[in-house]
Amino acid sequence: MNVLGIETSCDETGVAIYGEHGLLAHALYSQAALHAEYGGVVPELASRDHVRKLLPLIRQVLDEANLAAHAIDGVAYTAGPGLAGALLVGAALGRSLAWGWQVPAVAVHHMEGHLLAPLLERPAPEFPFVALLVSGGHTQLVQVDGVGRYRLLGQSLDDAAGEAFDKTAKLLGLGYPGGPALARLAERGNPGRFRFPRPMTDRPGLDFSFSGLKTFALNTLQQAGNDPASLADIARAFEDAVVDTLVIKCRRALEQTACPRLVVAGGVSANQRLRSRLQEMAAKRRARVFFPRLEFCTDNGAMIAFAGHRRLCAGQHEPLAFEARPRWDLTDLPPLN
Ligand code: KG4
Ligand code: ZN
Repeated sequence: MNVLGIETSCDETGVAIYGEHGLLAHALYSQAALHAEYGGVVPELASRDHVRKLLPLIRQVLDEANLAAHAIDGVAYTAGPGLAGALLVGAALGRSLAWGWQVPAVAVHHMEGHLLAPLLERPAPEFPFVALLVSGGHTQLVQVDGVGRYRLLGQSLDDAAGEAFDKTAKLLGLGYPGGPALARLAERGNPGRFRFPRPMTDRPGLDFSFSGLKTFALNTLQQAGNDPASLADIARAFEDAVVDTLVIKCRRALEQTACPRLVVAGGVSANQRLRSRLQEMAAKRRARVFFPRLEFCTDNGAMIAFAGHRRLCAGQHEPLAFEARPRWDLTDLPPLN
């Protein structure tokens, strides 16, 4: 079954085709330059740009996969969570193409897409595993027993990890998108100069709280001054605090579940320091950690085509009516057999 996947939940237009033999083609258009001058995503501009880019990208992946439209057997679109208008563009086009082509369509949960993205790699993790989902909107630890069999172990009580990176980057005068820019600046920082707290690691449990770190960064900035060396040192101290906190909670989740497999996905899983620190922690515990390749950490169409392929092959599909679900609980998804 060849599945066309469409991702439009935020500021990337992602399209891919996943078939019986794996990923056949994928394409991504990032709106970063469009939103950069506003310092963050402008939802209305995001929706309009998805309208402009989606059909050309779909033509492009069909060409790359050397497939005619009638070779598509199903359509998967991100239905939530995300920006309502942006989601509606992908949902409306995905549902309409499926109707026109007389094939089934399935609504994919964006975080399930992230969560399953490491299964696009070889070796792929086997179920069950613990998943750390770290994106701009979510920080969650999930026990995963199969597709749609999700138990939430812990989550952020305030800012998501990616959101904390973006807000702190803004404080440091870095442009949008802030996470990768902050990580680059941290490379030049002195790790010993400042020490930020590791929030909520001094008590039991798997929840997170990252909003205090940006305030800590602001106070440190006011005291240290904004010379280039101080900015880099603050970036490094902030990154170390987030990474340490995530590693501590992941270790705890592996202990608590007695599971030897950790899957890490979502935009912040592209962070090199997080990747290497989690590798070290897992190696000490004789556990294995699985990441998507860098381009599939952040939003993309491949993960949606893949999650949709799993669900369509299991017989799930949507009626003709469609909806966008800007808020959508991962644990509400139907399990697959
Ligand atoms: O998964 P994603 O592309 O979109 C959401 O679903 O939110 O994640 C985007 C987030 C942003 O907050 C971005 O700053 C962060 O991931 N991010 C990073 C890095 N690359 C992306 N954060 C830290 N280090 C990175 N290398
Ligand atoms: Zn995402």
